[in-house]
Order: sequence, then structure tokens, then C-alpha cells
Amino acid sequence: MNRQIIDKIREKREFSQLPEKDIEIAFGHFEKRQVSDEEKIKLTKELLRKIFAAFISPKLLSLKNKEPEWILRKHISTRERLPNYKEIYKRIFGNEKVSSVIDLGAGINGFSYTYFNEKIKYTAIESVGQLVQLMNFYFKNNKITGEAIHLSLFEKEKVKEIIKKEKRPRIVFLFKVIDALESLKPNYSKELISELIPISNKVVVSFATRSLGSREKFKANRNWIVEFIKENFNVLDDFEIGGERYLIFSK
Ligand SMILES: C[S@@+](CC[C@H](N)C(=O)[O-])C[C@H]1O[C@@H](n2cnc3c(N)ncnc32)[C@H](O)[C@@H]1O
Repeated sequence: MNRQIIDKIREKREFSQLPEKDIEIAFGHFEKRQVSDEEKIKLTKELLRKIFAAFISPKLLSLKNKEPEWILRKHISTRERLPNYKEIYKRIFGNEKVSSVIDLGAGINGFSYTYFNEKIKYTAIESVGQLVQLMNFYFKNNKITGEAIHLSLFEKEKVKEIIKKEKRPRIVFLFKVIDALESLKPNYSKELISELIPISNKVVVSFATRSLGSREKFKANRNWIVEFIKENFNVLDDFEIGGERYLIFSK
């Protein structure tokens, strides 16, 4: 892909630190259209905005030393989950010993580490560089055994290497990230999940059952992902809390 086009897209602050891989896949949706490069760039930005920028307050794009709860409120996904974190993690971890959590497309979910058992090593993988820096700043200042890594989930082999390095038992989170993956590359989430299962003790997938920020139930049908998981893996738990459905499964 043309360097100038990537640079042009990265002029926008919210896209300035996106991995090339994500920009390339997004641009690929419009590359063959019979329109000007400018139009293709405009369409690419619109798509990227829906995937990477729609959920975050611009306030998160500049580093600030704020309390975790302030930060968690500045991202729609974590804000909606805030009253329920305790219950959700209790349900996911139970009384089991877990050594590591790898959170894919983490947003700022690393700020919910205070709701974890402190012995857990937390690793976030996220495309938006500013959120990665924000989490690493927080982990360092609070001496948390956490790390955020700036990487696209489309770099599948690298993602798998990161997971394999973490101690077992390990749990992989894919919270509210399936839609983002599917809108850039249809069917990629099935492929990714299938390759995560053999290297994880458990995988947790979540998706919204009502549209973000509203109380309305989603009309969009997420049955395909539920069916795929039920047909191919061992479902250990399936529950809905605060407008979000969680499926916990293993091999
Ligand atoms: C709706 S948010 C959910 C954030 C977090 N998982 C949560 O539930 O609190 C989706 C997140 O996935 C990230 N994301 C989307 N596509 C990604 C990709 N290909 N690689 C890495 N991160 C991605 C976005 O930047 C965003 O932070």
C-alpha cells in the first residue's frame, strides 16, 4: 500500500498510531472502486472511525494521571460494565487458580485490574497506541503485573506467540471485539478463535445484547457466533449481565 496514503490517514490524531495492518485491510475495502484516491481515503477513515474511535472519548487520547474509575468511564464498553465488573470476574474466575489473562482488543479494560486477583499476570493487546500507553502508564505507576502491547489482532501469529509465552492456566478475553474484526475481515473471528482454543485453558467471548449507550435490544443477530462456539467447543458458562452476553468455553 502506498506510503502517502497511510500517512494521509494517520494525520488524524485518532488514527495516528494505528498499525499499518489495520489501515491496509480497511483501505482494501475501497481500493478497487472507480473513485479518486481522496474519496478512498475518506471512505477508509469512515470505516476506521467506526471500529477504532467511536467508543472512546477524545480525552483518552492524551495521557493523564487519573483514577481508574475516571478512565473506565471514558470508554463506552467499560463504562457500561463498571457496576458489574465484580460479578463478571467472579463468574469467569470462580475459585479457580488462573495465572494469566490475555485481553484481545482490550480498549482500556486493563484499568479493571483492581477487580482481579492480584496474582494474575494481565496482558492487553490493542491497536490504538494511545490506549496502550495509557494502560502501561497505569500499570507502572501502580506496580501492577500488567503489560499492554501495541499490535493488530490481524497479526495472528504474533498474537499467538504472545499468548504462548504466558503461564498456564491462561484465559483469553475477546470482549466486544468480534464486530470490529468482522467488519474488517468477515469470518476472521472464527479462524482466530479456532487457533486460540488449543493454546488457552479458556476463552471468553462477549458481545452487546443492546446497542451501546441505549437500552434497546439489538436487532442484529449474533446467533452465528453462539452457534459456532456451541458446535465446536465445550461451553462452560453462558450468561448475560448489564446488556452484555458472555460465553466461556474450552476445547
Ligand atoms: C468495543 S471496544 C471493546 C474494548 C474492550 N474489549 C472492552 O470490552 O472493554 C473494541 C476494541 O477493540 C479494538 N480493536 C478493534 N479491532 C482491533 C484489531 N484488529 N486489533 C487490535 N485491537 C482492535 C478497538 O481499538 C477497541 O479498543
